[in-house]
Amino acid sequence: MKKNLLFLMSALALCACTSQGDKPSSKSLVLYYSQTSTTQQVAKLLQFKTGADIDSIVCEQPYDGDFNQTIVRCQKEFAENEAPVIQKLTRNVADYDTIYLGYPVWFGTYAQPIAGLIKQVDLSGKVVIPFCTFGSGGLNTSTDKLKAALPGAKLLPGYGVRTARVSAASEELDKFLIQIGVKPGQLPELPSYSDKQPVTDADVEIFNAACGSYPMPLGTPVEVCSRTLDNGTDYEFTVETATPDGNKVRSRIYILVGKEEGAAPEFIMAKR
Ligand SMILES: Cc1cc2nc3c(=O)[nH]c(=O)nc-3n(C[C@H](O)[C@H](O)[C@H](O)COP(=O)(O)O)c2cc1C
Repeated sequence: MKKNLLFLMSALALCACTSQGDKPSSKSLVLYYSQTSTTQQVAKLLQFKTGADIDSIVCEQPYDGDFNQTIVRCQKEFAENEAPVIQKLTRNVADYDTIYLGYPVWFGTYAQPIAGLIKQVDLSGKVVIPFCTFGSGGLNTSTDKLKAALPGAKLLPGYGVRTARVSAASEELDKFLIQIGVKPGQLPELPSYSDKQPVTDADVEIFNAACGSYPMPLGTPVEVCSRTLDNGTDYEFTVETATPDGNKVRSRIYILVGKEEGAAPEFIMAKR
């Protein structure tokens, strides 16, 4: 009887080990830089939704000036190929497999303190999930640059939200975490966009309602296509901008018109 009990206990212990061994425990860290706390809001949501640990990147010499002073300092750093020195992190990155790496977009890419982080902290072998906040756009260009700067890391698709839409982040993050396989669930397959057409007056009205108050020029809408999503109509506008040398460049602006009666068109992001 005693022998049987011992056998049962060791068999149970073996099962427990095997099931843990089959699925290695993954430790995640939300690591972010935020100058004016927009990215911090998204970082805290991610921490809450994933149960990850959290830490922030602090520069030895903070970027505490106004927008123009930050621009002047960054231009000097770019010209001298320098990155800011960051303080020792509270968390030890070596203890984590997955890093949710957050930043504001500066000059179309990740903010300079991330360049400091990459210089000082080894992220090779980590799964890196970028997230960012931005005025108009830059998720795609920032992740292209991250990929090049972190050749030893496995970069997953990222999440980005405009500063003006940060209140939409919670709902969008739920979908994002399913999309990258961190949370269980299934998302409906997105339909393709319709064929591109020259813009009509009604399209220009939607464009102006969404983007008219944006403080920087976004270009002139010339073509549009759209698709119906479960939460409204998603428009992809092609806009044209004249460069200083007289050439015209095209980029894309995404606008969502919610399905609720009278929903105001929302400027989602710009994409080069
Ligand atoms: C120096 C500087 C450069 C910026 N460059 C861009 C840019 O190229 N594209 C963009 O969409 N937003 C740009 N922004 C806007 C920020 O990305 C946006 O305000 C962000 O949400 C700020 O995040 P934070 O509050 O976490 O610092 C810039 C902001 C600063 C201060």
